[in-house]
Amino acid sequence: MTLILGIETSCDETGVAVVRDGRAIVANEVASQIHIHREFGGVVPEIASRRHTTCISQLTRLVLDQSGPVDAVAATWGPGLMGSLLVGVSFAKSLAYAWGVPYVPVHHIEGHIFSVFVDPEQSDVDFPFLALVVSGGHTCLIDCPRPHVYEILGSTRDDAVGECFDKVARLLGLPYPGGPSIQKAAEGGDPHAFSFPRAMMQGDSLEFSYSGLKTAVLYEMRDGAPSPADLAASFQHAAVDVLVMKTRRALEVSGRTRLVVAGGVSANRLLRERLTTELDIPVHVPPLSLCVDNGAMIAAAAYSRLQHGFVGQLSDTASASMRLA
Ligand SMILES: Nc1ncnc2c1ncn2[C@@H]1O[C@H](COP(=O)(O)OP(=O)(O)OP(=O)(O)O)[C@@H](O)[C@H]1O
Ligand SMILES: [Mg+2]
Repeated sequence: MTLILGIETSCDETGVAVVRDGRAIVANEVASQIHIHREFGGVVPEIASRRHTTCISQLTRLVLDQSGPVDAVAATWGPGLMGSLLVGVSFAKSLAYAWGVPYVPVHHIEGHIFSVFVDPEQSDVDFPFLALVVSGGHTCLIDCPRPHVYEILGSTRDDAVGECFDKVARLLGLPYPGGPSIQKAAEGGDPHAFSFPRAMMQGDSLEFSYSGLKTAVLYEMRDGAPSPADLAASFQHAAVDVLVMKTRRALEVSGRTRLVVAGGVSANRLLRERLTTELDIPVHVPPLSLCVDNGAMIAAAAYSRLQHGFVGQLSDTASASMRLA
């Protein structure tokens, strides 16, 4: 039995968890800072890193009280906000050094992908698969032939889809984070009230672009005072449509017969419904509690990394713009 302490501090959630054998959550605590950043309409990096510093030791104490001693310590080492990453990485390395156990650095997106592995409902998930990663900073289709081998088939040229939800929510005067706000506002709205653009659909492109969609919403608002519910529903419909169509295309290109969806936007109800009902293959989506940033996904990815002989060095540091592949 291997117990791994996973630490995630790349953005505005302090996540600390202990996972057994990469599959079973023993303890999982997340301290969200959403209420702190809401008044600014987005994450303020300096405030985020200070907050991680005050939360991380308390959360670690909480999970260790439930798990007892661990066999390794893992942390997100990038990409993300540099100050925030350094809190988690330094804390994890200090614990690993003090306890004499391995330190395992994990890429944040690899962590999101591994979030489906710690769901007891999805014990059948395994490589190879296609991953659709949709979050505040990423929109990408990744071919995953075997653990820790990734080929990015397509990603966004500008805004990430989660970022687009956040920006459109702001235009509509809805609270941060925009994804859940828009999902709620769209209830009862007409998804066909406005015909918003679906970008980069020509040819066989697997790239995304979301900045034009945001601008199209802005223009509709300038032209009159449309119903916010109709705007939200039509925007959500367009944003999700592109994700579903490009995922279908990427499945054809890669020949994969299994899909993993991960990242904050994978919490979106319409996206989950459409992918699970419209694609004729097994689709793995994390439980809602593991869609946003958390330490359990980092521990799960670290377990697999350890199994494949990867151990970090205490001299390894964080990187704000780390590449996955
Ligand atoms: N129900 C939802 N529908 C659409 N988007 C959602 C929903 N819930 C959350 N989101 C979006 O998910 C994003 C946050 O996800 P996540 O925490 O994975 O991003 P991040 O960690 O900031 O970015 P990254 O993972 O790319 O570094 C926000 O943009 C938020 O609006
Ligand atoms: Mg994230």
